Formats: sequence, structure tokens, C-alpha cells
Amino acid sequence: MRILAIESSCDETSVAVVDNGIAVHTNIIASSMAAFKASGGVIPEEAARKQVESILPVLHLALASADGGWSSIDAIAVTKGPGLLGSLLVGTMTARALASMHQKPLIGVHHTLGHLSSTWLGTDAAHAPAFPILTLSASGGHTDLWMRTSHTHGTLIGHTIDDAAGEAFDKGATMLGLPYPGGPSIAKAAETGNKDAFPFTIPLKKEKTFNFSFSGLKTNLRYTIRDVGDRKSEIGDPGHALTADLAASFQNAICIHLVDRIKKALESYPDIKEIHLVGGVSANTFLRSLVTDLRSQISTLVVRFPQTLAFCTDNAAMIASAAYFLMQEEKNATDTFETSASLPLTNAVRDV
Ligand code: KG4
Ligand code: ZN
Repeated sequence: MRILAIESSCDETSVAVVDNGIAVHTNIIASSMAAFKASGGVIPEEAARKQVESILPVLHLALASADGGWSSIDAIAVTKGPGLLGSLLVGTMTARALASMHQKPLIGVHHTLGHLSSTWLGTDAAHAPAFPILTLSASGGHTDLWMRTSHTHGTLIGHTIDDAAGEAFDKGATMLGLPYPGGPSIAKAAETGNKDAFPFTIPLKKEKTFNFSFSGLKTNLRYTIRDVGDRKSEIGDPGHALTADLAASFQNAICIHLVDRIKKALESYPDIKEIHLVGGVSANTFLRSLVTDLRSQISTLVVRFPQTLAFCTDNAAMIASAAYFLMQEEKNATDTFETSASLPLTNAVRDV
């Protein structure tokens, strides 16, 4: 089953061709992120305009690099939401037009289900992930902890009660004078910093739920910066120890908080076979090392991340993968759908 997928929910325009949910032939991604460096965040109208400019060139490039052309494509998949409405409409209208022109089934995919499937990309059937799986899905828009028994069945056991983890990285970077997107720039600055230089209070330590909170860490960072006194001029230059130490300490606190919740879930759900880390924040190597360390506690535990960095952040290959598994598990996968900026998570995975 070969699926051509389109992902256009935010500032990336991506088209991919994937076989059987795992074998990626091509995954072309055009990003308008550079246009938002000055504003420190995505401007929706501008992102939609960039989607319009990029969609056809990216589509043609993807088709040209996947041999077989339209006759080899069995179905078309597209992100139906959530995301920026203008951006989403460019992708869904293109997908609807292509499906009608080439007489292919069309599958609307929840963006989160795409991220949840990203750990299947590049695997082979013999080594594919095994349920039940605990997945931390952390990006600029969400921070969710899923306990799944299949691709489309499971429970959202935890979520953020304020900012998302990626948002904390992005806002923290702005405070530290580091460029957007904040995750990669904080991670880079942290490489030469001391993670224990500044104490941050790990959020919700005593909380019984699996929820996350990042707004306190953000405030903590603001006050720490305020209190550095005449060293303020060093902020914004990753070459200075102060910026590097602040970045390392802030990154450490975010990651410890994320891993604390995973540890707690492992205690409550001893049947978990695998832990997956997905979404833009899963690109963070410090977080990856902390999660990998959990294997020293449970030797049978399998820990997986998306196989390439391109599969961590928004991409169409994950949408093609999710569409394949949706078709396997859901009878109505090819039914008509609405494009929606605020699609509930229950539309991605059904509670069991
Ligand atoms: O999944 P994604 O591409 O888009 C959304 O659906 O939001 O995630 C983007 C987010 C941004 O907040 C970005 O700062 C964060 O992922 N991110 C990282 C890293 N790379 C990207 N956060 C921490 N460390 C990274 N290396
Ligand atoms: Zn995403």
C-alpha cells in the first residue's frame, strides 16, 4: 500500500510517499521558519501564503523522486487538523483536488496521530514497535502522555496544564536572546553550559496526575535573568558562560520534568513494552539520553525516537504512516472529513 501524504498544518510544507506505513521513498519538506526569526514566532497569514507558494513545487519534487508516478499511488493522506486554518486549507484543498483528479481514496489524518506514528518510519515489519506503548508527544503546541494498546486505541493519561514543552523552549530562548526556534538554539547553547549552575524548581513534583506544567519554569527563568545584575550584557551570546549555564539549567529542568512523568507512568503501568518520544522536542539529545537511561531500571524496555530529525518535527511521512494504520484499524478511515484548526485529541486516539 503506497500512500502519498501532505502535511501543511503550520510553517512546514511537506509531501511524502511511504509504503506500508514504514518504508519512506521520499519526504520533501519546505520550511518558512526563517521568515519568522524576527518575530520570534509564526505569523499565521504569512505561513499560509508560504504554503500556497510551496505546495506545488514540493508535490512535484516528491513525485519526481518516488518512482512510479501517480499510477503507483494507492491513496492520498492529508493532515486535517489541528493547526493554523489557512495553512491546513492549502494542504487539504490540494489533497481533495488530487484525490478527485486521480480517483484515489482520501484519508484525513489528525496531526497528533502522525507524530504518534513517526517511530514506525524506517523500521521493518520484523522489528516494528509492539504495544502497549507509552508515548510522550512533545512539540510547540502540545505535551501529551499516551498509553496506547493499538495505533488508534488508548488513553491520554497526561497533558500540559499551561504551556507546551516546545513553547517553553521557544519562550525561554527569546528571554535568553537566542534565535527561534528555541529548542535547537537552547540545546546548542547548553552544550558548553553547566546544568547545575542555576537551581530551577521541578514542577508538579508532588502532583498525583501525569500532567505537565511549564509556565512556572518560564517565570523562574525570568527572575533568574532579572537577578544576574551587571552580568546582563552577557545574555544573548551563547559564547558567554552565563547564557550557556542558563540554557543548560533551563533545558535540564524541562527534561527532568518530562522524564519524571514517564517514570511515574512506568510505575503505574507495568505492562508497558516500549517508550516512544515523538514531536519536535524529541530531537533534544539531552532528553533522549535521560529517557534511554530508564532502560537501566527495566532491562526489557524498548526506547524509540523517530529515526531521523526530519521525522521529529512536522513532516508528511508520519501522516502517510498514520493513514496506513488508520486504514488497517478503522473502517471509516476514507470517509469525508472537515478541515479543523482545533480538532480534539479524541479524534486521534479513541479512549479504551
Ligand atoms: O512538532 P513540531 O515541529 O511542530 C509542532 O507541531 O509544534 O515541533 C516544534 C517545536 C518547537 O517548539 C521547537 O523549539 C521544538 O519543537 N524543538 C526542540 C528541538 N528541536 C525542535 N526542542 C528541544 N530540543 C530540540 N533539539
Ligand atoms: Zn507537530
